[in-house]
Amino acid sequence: MRRRWAVTASASWWGTACELHASASAAYTPPCHSPGTGGRGTESGPMTAPVRQETRNYNASVPSADDLVRLHLSESPYGASPAAVAAVTGELERINRYPAPGREGLVQALARHWELPEEHIAVANGSDELVLATALTLGDPGSPGLVTAGTFPGYLAALERIGRGAVQVPLAGSGTDTAAFADRLPGCGIGYVCNPHNPCGSALTHDELHRLVAAARDSGTPLVFDEAYHEFGPPAQPQARTHLREDTPVLALRTFSKAYGLAALRIGYALGPADLIAEVRRTLTVLPFSVNRAAQAAALAALDDQEFLGSVRRDSAARRQWFCAELERRGYRYLPSVTNFVAVEVAASAEAQDVLARDHGILVRDTGMFGFPGHLRVSLGSVEELRGFLDALDRVTAGSR
Ligand SMILES: Cc1ncc(COP(=O)(O)O)c(C=O)c1O
Repeated sequence: MRRRWAVTASASWWGTACELHASASAAYTPPCHSPGTGGRGTESGPMTAPVRQETRNYNASVPSADDLVRLHLSESPYGASPAAVAAVTGELERINRYPAPGREGLVQALARHWELPEEHIAVANGSDELVLATALTLGDPGSPGLVTAGTFPGYLAALERIGRGAVQVPLAGSGTDTAAFADRLPGCGIGYVCNPHNPCGSALTHDELHRLVAAARDSGTPLVFDEAYHEFGPPAQPQARTHLREDTPVLALRTFSKAYGLAALRIGYALGPADLIAEVRRTLTVLPFSVNRAAQAAALAALDDQEFLGSVRRDSAARRQWFCAELERRGYRYLPSVTNFVAVEVAASAEAQDVLARDHGILVRDTGMFGFPGHLRVSLGSVEELRGFLDALDRVTAGSR
């Protein structure tokens, strides 16, 4: 059973992708040489053979976005720890030198922080790189990935781009349907669950998390929990870390982009069983210098400054409370959130997103882009930015509410 967990990496990523299909079951359409157009299954529909699609650019950049109000990428309005900023400044003296490919300093610090052996940690160029590396590396290569519909598009994009394809489980309301997901996991090669959930902001309960972990353990199918927003929740919020065991193919992805405020530097990490982490690391070494010096130094300093993180957590929780109260006062419905964003119900969300950008210079995210239309996902920026958004939204939706 455990052998199914990891795909042996080949010399190149393309090599790996083609190898996956060379060994895929007869039910598959080998897509290595012929990009296709369809093939995703859904929980209710047939699990069709995944075929590689042209990867959509789900994060197309907005020209001059820095001049606009940025409430579209769940960034931190609090900056980063001053110690992290100082660490980056110090590294500027050494930018003629390659970064440490093994990322040992940060791995050791994370091992102390999480009370785990170093072999259980892989550091990468943001969670994004870990999504791609796990999709390339883990699980039965002849089976598609399992994702929820209506969530962060990175999992689907990675699985489609490497030709593995994905089956989507519809959401139950605004959260993961854990019963359906657990049912389908054994038939898939790897699973991805976004917890807390982007863009809805909900989090799994202990029982829900436990059910998914049990499905991974019993089936031997690797399950990746993307916990990019975990730090914004209450201290007792369930997390995959407490389920990490050698006999359970579960990984947790964490990032320094959100609560730690280091989005531009691109750094994140995975926690998981040593054998899976070893395979992921092998894939990551294809790009040995993908985590730059400034990022490694900054993350080390940021991790060491838990006081700063604590202030971000407290301020974010207070901001969220204020923003939700303000939404209620103005008559908007929204989804309760444990993250640094809130999904505000707006019927014509795609149009509202465009008008807010074009006429008001305010960037927010239409959740239709995630396959969950009818909401605008709004990052918890500064009070001034959020007031500006609310005033603009009042104007955009006037007459239609
Ligand atoms: C759920 C989720 N996972 C991963 C990422 C990417 O994180 P990183 O900046 O670490 O690549 C994001 C970014 O918005 C996200 O929302």
